[in-house]
Amino acid sequence: MPETNRRNASFGEYFARVGPRMDARGAAEHRRRLVEAAHGTVVEIGAGYGATFPFYPAAVTSVLALEPDPTLRALALAEASRAPVPVTVHDGTAESLPVADESVDVVVSCLVLCSVADQSAVLAETLRVLRPGGLLLFYEHVRSAHRVLAAAEDLLTPLWSRMAGGCHPNRDTAGRIAAAGLTLQNMERFGFSALPGNPRIAHIIGAAEKPRT
Ligand SMILES: C[S@@+](CC[C@H](N)C(=O)[O-])C[C@H]1O[C@@H](n2cnc3c(N)ncnc32)[C@H](O)[C@@H]1O
Repeated sequence: MPETNRRNASFGEYFARVGPRMDARGAAEHRRRLVEAAHGTVVEIGAGYGATFPFYPAAVTSVLALEPDPTLRALALAEASRAPVPVTVHDGTAESLPVADESVDVVVSCLVLCSVADQSAVLAETLRVLRPGGLLLFYEHVRSAHRVLAAAEDLLTPLWSRMAGGCHPNRDTAGRIAAAGLTLQNMERFGFSALPGNPRIAHIIGAAEKPRT
Protein backbone atom coordinates (compact mmCIF):
# COMPACT_ATOMS: atom_id res chain seq x y z
CA MET A 1 0.00 0.00 0.00
CA PRO A 2 1.12 3.62 -0.37
CA GLU A 3 3.94 4.51 1.98
CA THR A 4 2.20 7.71 3.14
CA ASN A 5 -0.74 5.79 4.56
CA ARG A 6 1.29 2.97 6.19
CA ARG A 7 3.24 5.66 8.07
CA ASN A 8 0.10 7.40 9.33
CA ALA A 9 -1.17 4.56 11.54
CA SER A 10 -2.45 7.08 14.11
CA PHE A 11 -4.72 8.73 11.52
CA GLY A 12 -7.04 5.74 11.88
CA GLU A 13 -7.38 6.31 15.61
CA TYR A 14 -8.01 10.03 15.05
CA PHE A 15 -10.60 9.42 12.33
CA ALA A 16 -12.39 6.79 14.42
CA ARG A 17 -12.89 9.54 17.04
CA VAL A 18 -13.88 12.46 14.80
CA GLY A 19 -15.79 10.59 12.09
CA PRO A 20 -18.90 10.03 14.25
CA ARG A 21 -18.96 13.78 15.02
CA MET A 22 -18.90 14.50 11.28
CA ASP A 23 -21.71 11.99 10.81
CA ALA A 24 -23.81 13.76 13.46
CA ARG A 25 -23.30 17.12 11.66
CA GLY A 26 -24.68 15.83 8.37
CA ALA A 27 -22.15 13.42 6.88
CA ALA A 28 -24.40 10.48 7.75
CA GLU A 29 -27.14 11.94 5.57
CA HIS A 30 -24.59 12.42 2.77
CA ARG A 31 -23.58 8.76 3.12
CA ARG A 32 -27.23 7.70 2.85
CA ARG A 33 -27.63 9.70 -0.36
CA LEU A 34 -24.31 8.42 -1.70
CA VAL A 35 -25.35 4.76 -1.73
CA GLU A 36 -29.06 5.21 -2.59
CA ALA A 37 -28.40 4.02 -6.17
CA ALA A 38 -26.12 1.12 -5.17
CA HIS A 39 -27.14 -2.32 -6.43
CA GLY A 40 -25.72 -5.74 -7.20
CA THR A 41 -22.04 -6.34 -6.44
CA VAL A 42 -20.30 -3.41 -4.77
CA VAL A 43 -16.68 -2.60 -3.93
CA GLU A 44 -16.26 0.12 -1.30
CA ILE A 45 -12.76 1.56 -1.25
CA GLY A 46 -11.28 3.00 1.98
CA ALA A 47 -14.33 1.96 4.01
CA GLY A 48 -12.98 3.47 7.24
CA TYR A 49 -14.92 2.34 10.31
CA GLY A 50 -17.83 1.15 8.17
CA ALA A 51 -20.07 4.19 8.65
CA THR A 52 -21.61 3.76 5.21
CA PHE A 53 -22.58 0.09 5.69
CA PRO A 54 -25.94 0.76 7.48
CA PHE A 55 -27.20 2.71 4.45
CA TYR A 56 -26.76 0.08 1.72
CA PRO A 57 -30.16 -0.62 0.14
CA ALA A 58 -31.63 -4.08 -0.32
CA ALA A 59 -30.78 -3.99 -4.06
CA VAL A 60 -27.14 -4.62 -3.06
CA THR A 61 -26.24 -8.33 -3.11
CA SER A 62 -22.70 -8.04 -1.69
CA VAL A 63 -20.16 -5.45 -0.61
CA LEU A 64 -16.40 -6.03 -0.65
CA ALA A 65 -15.06 -3.30 1.65
CA LEU A 66 -11.33 -2.53 1.49
CA GLU A 67 -9.60 -0.66 4.28
CA PRO A 68 -5.80 -0.41 4.66
CA ASP A 69 -5.74 1.06 8.17
CA PRO A 70 -5.81 -1.71 10.83
CA THR A 71 -7.65 0.33 13.49
CA LEU A 72 -10.39 1.36 11.08
CA ARG A 73 -10.55 -2.10 9.53
CA ALA A 74 -11.23 -3.72 12.93
CA LEU A 75 -14.11 -1.28 13.51
CA ALA A 76 -15.43 -1.91 9.99
CA LEU A 77 -15.42 -5.67 10.64
CA ALA A 78 -17.65 -5.15 13.69
CA GLU A 79 -19.95 -2.83 11.70
CA ALA A 80 -20.17 -5.40 8.87
CA SER A 81 -21.78 -7.92 11.21
CA ARG A 82 -24.66 -5.46 11.75
CA ALA A 83 -25.02 -4.36 8.11
CA PRO A 84 -28.37 -4.85 6.31
CA VAL A 85 -26.61 -6.52 3.33
CA PRO A 86 -23.66 -8.99 3.18
CA VAL A 87 -20.40 -7.06 3.72
CA THR A 88 -16.92 -8.58 3.79
CA VAL A 89 -13.99 -6.47 4.94
CA HIS A 90 -10.41 -6.92 3.72
CA ASP A 91 -7.05 -5.20 3.92
CA GLY A 92 -6.27 -3.56 0.60
CA THR A 93 -5.79 -0.36 -1.31
CA ALA A 94 -7.82 1.13 -4.09
CA GLU A 95 -4.80 1.24 -6.41
CA SER A 96 -5.00 -2.56 -6.77
CA LEU A 97 -8.52 -3.99 -6.46
CA PRO A 98 -8.67 -7.76 -5.84
CA VAL A 99 -11.49 -8.40 -8.32
CA ALA A 100 -11.72 -9.46 -11.97
CA ASP A 101 -12.17 -7.12 -14.93
CA GLU A 102 -15.77 -5.97 -15.52
CA SER A 103 -17.13 -7.97 -12.56
CA VAL A 104 -18.57 -5.21 -10.34
CA ASP A 105 -21.78 -3.17 -10.61
CA VAL A 106 -20.80 -0.29 -8.32
CA VAL A 107 -17.63 1.16 -6.77
CA VAL A 108 -18.21 3.43 -3.76
CA SER A 109 -15.76 6.12 -2.68
CA CYS A 110 -16.70 8.09 0.42
CA LEU A 111 -14.11 10.76 1.35
CA VAL A 112 -11.31 8.59 -0.05
CA LEU A 113 -10.22 10.04 -3.42
CA CYS A 114 -8.73 12.96 -1.46
CA SER A 115 -6.42 10.54 0.37
CA VAL A 116 -5.33 7.87 -2.07
CA ALA A 117 -1.68 8.08 -3.05
CA ASP A 118 -2.36 7.73 -6.78
CA GLN A 119 -5.77 9.02 -7.87
CA SER A 120 -5.17 8.17 -11.56
CA ALA A 121 -4.32 4.57 -10.69
CA VAL A 122 -7.44 4.26 -8.49
CA LEU A 123 -9.71 5.61 -11.24
CA ALA A 124 -8.07 3.30 -13.82
CA GLU A 125 -8.73 0.35 -11.47
CA THR A 126 -12.32 1.52 -11.01
CA LEU A 127 -12.78 1.57 -14.78
CA ARG A 128 -11.20 -1.90 -15.08
CA VAL A 129 -13.44 -3.62 -12.52
CA LEU A 130 -16.77 -1.95 -13.41
CA ARG A 131 -19.08 -3.66 -15.88
CA PRO A 132 -20.07 -1.44 -18.84
CA GLY A 133 -22.87 0.75 -17.45
CA GLY A 134 -21.53 0.24 -13.90
CA LEU A 135 -21.34 3.20 -11.52
CA LEU A 136 -18.75 4.96 -9.43
CA LEU A 137 -20.66 6.56 -6.53
CA PHE A 138 -18.63 9.30 -4.88
CA TYR A 139 -18.87 11.74 -1.98
CA GLU A 140 -15.69 13.79 -1.71
CA HIS A 141 -14.34 17.11 -0.55
CA VAL A 142 -12.65 18.89 -3.45
CA ARG A 143 -10.66 21.91 -4.61
CA SER A 144 -12.42 25.24 -4.16
CA ALA A 145 -13.86 26.91 -7.26
CA HIS A 146 -12.67 30.23 -5.80
CA ARG A 147 -9.17 31.07 -7.10
CA VAL A 148 -7.88 32.53 -3.82
CA LEU A 149 -9.24 29.71 -1.67
CA ALA A 150 -7.82 27.13 -4.10
CA ALA A 151 -4.41 28.79 -3.83
CA ALA A 152 -4.71 28.63 -0.02
CA GLU A 153 -5.54 24.92 -0.33
CA ASP A 154 -2.42 24.43 -2.48
CA LEU A 155 -0.32 26.06 0.26
CA LEU A 156 -1.93 24.00 3.02
CA THR A 157 -1.78 20.65 1.25
CA PRO A 158 1.82 19.51 1.99
CA LEU A 159 1.42 20.00 5.77
CA TRP A 160 -2.21 18.84 5.91
CA SER A 161 -1.40 15.72 3.95
CA ARG A 162 1.26 14.73 6.49
CA MET A 163 -1.10 15.37 9.41
CA ALA A 164 -4.25 13.82 7.96
CA GLY A 165 -3.44 10.44 6.50
CA GLY A 166 -2.45 11.65 3.03
CA CYS A 167 -5.53 13.87 2.54
CA HIS A 168 -5.23 16.50 -0.24
CA PRO A 169 -7.71 19.40 0.14
CA ASN A 170 -6.81 20.74 -3.33
CA ARG A 171 -7.80 17.92 -5.68
CA ASP A 172 -10.09 18.52 -8.68
CA THR A 173 -11.63 15.09 -8.23
CA ALA A 174 -14.60 15.58 -10.58
CA GLY A 175 -12.23 16.63 -13.36
CA ARG A 176 -10.07 13.56 -12.74
CA ILE A 177 -13.09 11.24 -12.76
CA ALA A 178 -14.16 12.61 -16.16
CA ALA A 179 -10.58 12.52 -17.49
CA ALA A 180 -10.35 8.85 -16.50
CA GLY A 181 -13.15 8.02 -18.94
CA LEU A 182 -16.18 7.86 -16.64
CA THR A 183 -19.29 9.88 -17.53
CA LEU A 184 -20.41 12.20 -14.73
CA GLN A 185 -24.12 12.05 -13.82
CA ASN A 186 -26.24 13.70 -11.12
CA MET A 187 -23.32 15.51 -9.53
CA GLU A 188 -24.12 18.06 -6.83
CA ARG A 189 -21.58 20.51 -5.46
CA PHE A 190 -22.12 22.04 -2.01
CA GLY A 191 -20.31 23.55 0.97
CA PHE A 192 -20.07 21.54 4.18
CA SER A 193 -18.34 22.22 7.51
CA ALA A 194 -17.48 18.77 8.78
CA LEU A 195 -16.60 19.77 12.35
CA PRO A 196 -17.44 22.75 14.61
CA GLY A 197 -15.20 25.72 13.75
CA ASN A 198 -14.12 24.21 10.41
CA PRO A 199 -14.73 26.29 7.26
CA ARG A 200 -17.41 25.17 4.81
CA ILE A 201 -15.40 23.54 2.08
CA ALA A 202 -16.48 22.33 -1.34
CA HIS A 203 -17.88 18.81 -1.56
CA ILE A 204 -19.28 16.79 -4.44
CA ILE A 205 -21.74 13.91 -4.34
CA GLY A 206 -22.88 11.97 -7.37
CA ALA A 207 -22.40 9.12 -9.79
CA ALA A 208 -20.22 8.48 -12.83
CA GLU A 209 -20.98 5.73 -15.34
CA LYS A 210 -18.59 3.47 -17.20
CA PRO A 211 -19.50 3.86 -20.88
CA ARG A 212 -21.45 0.91 -22.32
CA THR A 213 -19.45 0.69 -25.54
C1 LIG B 1 -11.31 10.33 5.54
S1 LIG B 1 -11.21 8.62 5.68
C2 LIG B 1 -12.81 8.11 5.10
C3 LIG B 1 -13.19 6.73 5.56
C4 LIG B 1 -14.57 6.25 5.15
N1 LIG B 1 -14.68 6.09 3.73
C5 LIG B 1 -15.63 7.15 5.67
O1 LIG B 1 -16.30 7.81 4.87
O2 LIG B 1 -15.80 7.21 6.90
C6 LIG B 1 -10.12 8.18 4.35
C7 LIG B 1 -9.98 6.68 4.23
O3 LIG B 1 -9.21 6.36 3.07
C8 LIG B 1 -8.38 5.27 3.40
N2 LIG B 1 -7.29 5.22 2.42
C9 LIG B 1 -6.19 5.99 2.35
N3 LIG B 1 -5.43 5.65 1.30
C10 LIG B 1 -6.07 4.63 0.69
C11 LIG B 1 -5.80 3.84 -0.47
N4 LIG B 1 -4.72 4.05 -1.20
N5 LIG B 1 -6.68 2.86 -0.79
C12 LIG B 1 -7.80 2.67 -0.06
N6 LIG B 1 -8.11 3.39 1.04
C13 LIG B 1 -7.26 4.36 1.40
C14 LIG B 1 -7.96 5.55 4.83
O4 LIG B 1 -7.42 4.42 5.48
C15 LIG B 1 -9.28 6.02 5.41
O5 LIG B 1 -10.06 4.96 5.84
